[in-house]
Amino acid sequence: MNMKMTSSREVRLAAHPTGTLLPEHFVITEAVPVPGANDVVVRNRWFRVSVSTRLMATHGAEAVKGIPFPVLKPGDVLADGAIGEVVSCPHDSGFRVGDLIYHPLGWREYAAVDASQCVALGNEPIDPAAYLGHGWTAYAALTRGIQIREGDTVFVSSGAGAIGSMAGQIARKLGAGRVIGSTGTKDKAEWMKAELGYDTVIMRNGRPIIEPLAEAAPDGIDVFVDMVGGEQLSAAMACAREGARFVLLGALTAELNVSEASLRAPLEIDSFQLIIKGITLRGYSADSDATEAFAEWLQCARRWQSEGDFHLTHTTFHGIDSAPRALHEACAGKLRGVVMVAL
Ligand SMILES: NC(=O)c1ccc[n+]([C@@H]2O[C@H](COP(=O)([O-])OP(=O)(O)OC[C@H]3O[C@@H](n4cnc5c(N)ncnc54)[C@H](OP(=O)(O)O)[C@@H]3O)[C@@H](O)[C@H]2O)c1
Repeated sequence: MNMKMTSSREVRLAAHPTGTLLPEHFVITEAVPVPGANDVVVRNRWFRVSVSTRLMATHGAEAVKGIPFPVLKPGDVLADGAIGEVVSCPHDSGFRVGDLIYHPLGWREYAAVDASQCVALGNEPIDPAAYLGHGWTAYAALTRGIQIREGDTVFVSSGAGAIGSMAGQIARKLGAGRVIGSTGTKDKAEWMKAELGYDTVIMRNGRPIIEPLAEAAPDGIDVFVDMVGGEQLSAAMACAREGARFVLLGALTAELNVSEASLRAPLEIDSFQLIIKGITLRGYSADSDATEAFAEWLQCARRWQSEGDFHLTHTTFHGIDSAPRALHEACAGKLRGVVMVAL
């Protein structure tokens, strides 16, 4: 069955950001998708807004294996994970009108998506944050990247962010004894303790971060879940206990550097510390374990939510017009959990 679609809007890059990314770097245009023979037409209901888009919108950005974001030139439509309802589909696609599907073409009201890129989510009501959020990324990192051991002291950088807000909670569920997070603002620090169960939250506010970290973990840390790199990684290294395990997921310090967003995050490392303490450093991309880890994550998330103290943290904006502001505020450090736009 086919339903006629008469109007759809999408977000395009208007100009490469230099310095702070602003809503004015984007433009919202009218464009009705024209489906190819193998395309499923989807009315998007929610899409994710990721800070990685900032880097990909930078002049001279390069496509990198392992980063699932297209490089953006002025005029390009943005893209990110989305959940939508099938409006029409090829008869042999295996989908039906009304099915909810996950696909990679967010940032637009309607999308024409090759059937091979669509994943059926059934037609029961769902919590979009379970699918668009980064709980599964954090879960994969803490079960496949490294393993949490009972009683571990865990430090999570950017502990209120899309991955970090889930990593702190998941580490606790997997047996961590003490969980420490970092953030940039006091209100997020309070929320992290009250809502996400962090024992201590340390601030990146100009004071060398090693000082509050050493105070928060006087006996050192066993696990570091790193989204930031730079000074926070050095501090974690200095505070590592013997046999500490570090899983490195991102380098926001380079990615969100306002003066020069970059994929390069060089850091001087005291290799003697690694050797003497037997520290493991593991760079990890959850995409490599996606299928298996995702199914397992959904089961755990359901169980942990039923226990009542586990939150699929998100900030949700409403309407396509709000999407450029959502990205601006995410990059400016104003938001919590995964950022989504509901349509
Ligand atoms: N390995 C993987 O499988 C995988 C998958 C997805 C994403 N990633 C990467 O993981 C990292 C985290 O992604 P995310 O989506 O969870 O991001 P995020 O933590 O939600 O990023 C936004 C937060 O970054 C912090 N921030 C902003 N500017 C900063 C700066 N200059 N230095 C340090 N922190 C700054 C702010 O938090 P505070 O103010 O609270 O500090 C802000 O709220 C990114 O580098 C992303 O590319 C990795």
